[in-house]
Amino acid sequence: MFSGIQPTADSFHLGNYLGALREWVVMQDDYDAFYCVVDQHAITIAHDPAELRERTRLSVAQLLAIGIDPDRSTLFVQSHVPEHAQLTWVLECLTGFGEASRMTQFKDKSARQEEDHVSVGLFTYPALMAADILLYRADAVPVGEDQRQHLELTRNLAQRFNSRFGGTLTVPAAHIPKETAKIQDLQDPSAKMSKSVPGGVVELLDEPKRSAKKIRSAVTDTGREIVHDPEGKPGISNLLAIYSSLSGRTIPELQAAYEGKGYGDLKKDLAEVLVDFVTPFQEEVRGYLDDPAELDRVLARGAEHARSVAADTLREVYDGIGF
Ligand code: ADP
Ligand code: NA
Repeated sequence: MFSGIQPTADSFHLGNYLGALREWVVMQDDYDAFYCVVDQHAITIAHDPAELRERTRLSVAQLLAIGIDPDRSTLFVQSHVPEHAQLTWVLECLTGFGEASRMTQFKDKSARQEEDHVSVGLFTYPALMAADILLYRADAVPVGEDQRQHLELTRNLAQRFNSRFGGTLTVPAAHIPKETAKIQDLQDPSAKMSKSVPGGVVELLDEPKRSAKKIRSAVTDTGREIVHDPEGKPGISNLLAIYSSLSGRTIPELQAAYEGKGYGDLKKDLAEVLVDFVTPFQEEVRGYLDDPAELDRVLARGAEHARSVAADTLREVYDGIGF
């Protein structure tokens, strides 16, 4: 299993955690899991070097703090494993220009780009993502809706390489997790929670008091009953989903517990649940950041193991290509 996350923010948010990263923790028991902080993807748009370096380490510290265990999975930083860039070049040469041009995420992202500089890296990013996955012969890749087209390209590239060059690359499949929550914005529950909207996002490393306040001032719906009804009551339903995910109590259990109570009671309790989650999490993160040598050791070990697998795959690809 391969999965990556970009170090593009100072903190992961509740949507990242409940929608993706928590599943990473679960999957490390059943899979030979490769978890990668994809710093090379983060330079497809303008970036600040010092900030990138800082955010990469912050990302790793947060992954360790949520329970990614370097003894049970391979945790590493993409740029530490040069085979990612090396395989990308080969894959770019196997990708049609028209094929790459059809990637809707590039169209969206390049259209949104404020500066007039749209990099070639942003355009070829799906080939790098394909390399990430194929290097580890991953057969399971947890992907959200927005990455499906890129996974399809990855599958096509693996099949193309295999049929043209007699390769044995693994054709990956999407892994649809059983229980990942889609978390909505606290101020606009019709949109998904995202780091680009400061008001409605709970950042895991934010001051717990501020996050509690964001929960207490979340937009709710008219009426007063606490029921899960995403269509009719998107605000309350979102809070119930967060509450359920963080506490392990099912939504029906919560509905029963809050029968006859008000929105304010639910928010107050959820705010406490959140504070109880982020407070020890933040302590753990600080612990990892306070010991840079240990963090370096963890990453060196991860990169070493990742490289041993990646180099094997690259050798096969190079043989097939005629290098
Ligand atoms: P990236 O560019 O690395 O995909 P995102 O912040 O968009 O960055 O997402 C990282 C991961 O978190 C992805 O797997 C994505 O599906 C998940 N994610 C992001 N926002 C939410 C959300 N509001 N609810 C559930 N999952 C989310
Ligand atoms: Na494992």
